[in-house]
Amino acid sequence: MTKFSIRNSVLLAALSGLSLSANAYNMSIYDTELDVDWSDIPVVEKTMFFPGKVTFDWINSPAHKGTLKKGFETKTCSSCHQGEEEGLGEMLVQDDRLGNFPDKKGSIPAEFQFAHDDEHLYVKGTWKTESPFPARLHDTLLFQEGKWTIIGGDRGKNPYTPIYEDRFSLMIDDGSVLQFREQGCWMSCHRGARDIGQATARDVQALDVVGAFGLDQKDIRKYLPESRTERYGVNWDKVKPQEEIDKLKAEGQFVDLMQWRSTRSAPTNSADDGYVFEYRLNDKGTTVFTWNFDKKTGLPKYMYDKSVTGFYALNKEDFNDLNKKIAMVEGVNVMPYDASKIEEGQYLQGRLNREGAGSAGDNNQVFSSWEDGKYTVIFKRKLNTGHPEDDKIMEIGGTYDMNIAIHDGETTTRFHYVAFPFTVGIGEGSEGSVIALPIK
Ligand code: HEC
Repeated sequence: MTKFSIRNSVLLAALSGLSLSANAYNMSIYDTELDVDWSDIPVVEKTMFFPGKVTFDWINSPAHKGTLKKGFETKTCSSCHQGEEEGLGEMLVQDDRLGNFPDKKGSIPAEFQFAHDDEHLYVKGTWKTESPFPARLHDTLLFQEGKWTIIGGDRGKNPYTPIYEDRFSLMIDDGSVLQFREQGCWMSCHRGARDIGQATARDVQALDVVGAFGLDQKDIRKYLPESRTERYGVNWDKVKPQEEIDKLKAEGQFVDLMQWRSTRSAPTNSADDGYVFEYRLNDKGTTVFTWNFDKKTGLPKYMYDKSVTGFYALNKEDFNDLNKKIAMVEGVNVMPYDASKIEEGQYLQGRLNREGAGSAGDNNQVFSSWEDGKYTVIFKRKLNTGHPEDDKIMEIGGTYDMNIAIHDGETTTRFHYVAFPFTVGIGEGSEGSVIALPIK
């Protein structure tokens, strides 16, 4: 594994007079690094594969031959599919006939390391990215003929000129959710969700809890079967009543979901902090990103503060100029939007990074870099965040269900690569298919 050596590269580049931007870039605007020694921590290699439209209802239906085996409910995916990730990914990517992803691979290799200290779990992930550069833009604002428009989009919407972020996500449980150890993140993947037989906005709005008089959502995202009145079959519209949802959640019937986002969280050394039960929800508090666009006025809220960044707005050639940090961070490098400072054809970020607060701000020690086409992301996550209402609390000696997803190549929703669920034990003597060892 390459060591986290951005500072060295910067120094070397400075000494040799070479531009460092060709191959090393710290994703944080603060250039923060984590000073720990990974050399004694085993590397776990995983083949991350494209899961196609394999949903929870399909997995538990007779169409999935695994269900014919005795005791299927109590078996993990890998107990039957060990080593088949590459083959499954290849088959699923072909079955899908992804017109907008003509070159999409069925699987990618990735490397992980798991470690802990007295207070934290460390998860390090490294993979070679399909994006030809670190993905530093999401929704992007373009100024043309006196008007701002939002451009960009993921590879699905915009196959040949995507402008989008990459992601590295962890979904964790502590054994509370029935079958999560066996079926993991597939328990959050259902027909009716975005991009899998998507339910209409009108139908979603009409639902209790999730619809107009509840969360006011217009689509279905991740949810757990326990939040529905029927466990199997197409059940996105069978939401349990609010009181029951609240009660189950208070009993720990949810899974933690943390997403490192190359554009919307990495610049502030963060990952977002969410959880999944009746929907994919944010933890309480201030989230780590928001809009930099006022939909009512059609104007950006902020532009760059030139006294900090050297510019008010971006030109197209800045998008991948790694000598420039182009995230817009509230309170750090932005100032209120002033139309007189912007030139025709210039750009601003459509999304604004910020420091999270409360439970939504728990993941504020996430370190990431891009070097020679490879991302390295390190989560340093408090074992006990102090927020049991929307986080999974971990402890040394405990065993936790770990699910990993990588959205690479500027993709979104189901167009990610996933690993089969596995367990991580924290500390020597704990149980788990992977043991997180003490770190120095
Ligand atoms: C008890 C064993 C068993 C378990 C547990 C199991 N499967 Fe399977 N799975 C099978 C068998 C058998 C097949 C059929 C293989 C074949 O036809 O060659 C299959 C096929 C599949 C396929 C191929 C689908 C297709 O279109 O042919 C996928 C994808 C899959 N399983 C995913 C999963 C996932 C994800 C899990 C865990 C949530 C899982 N399986 C758990 C035994 C199992």
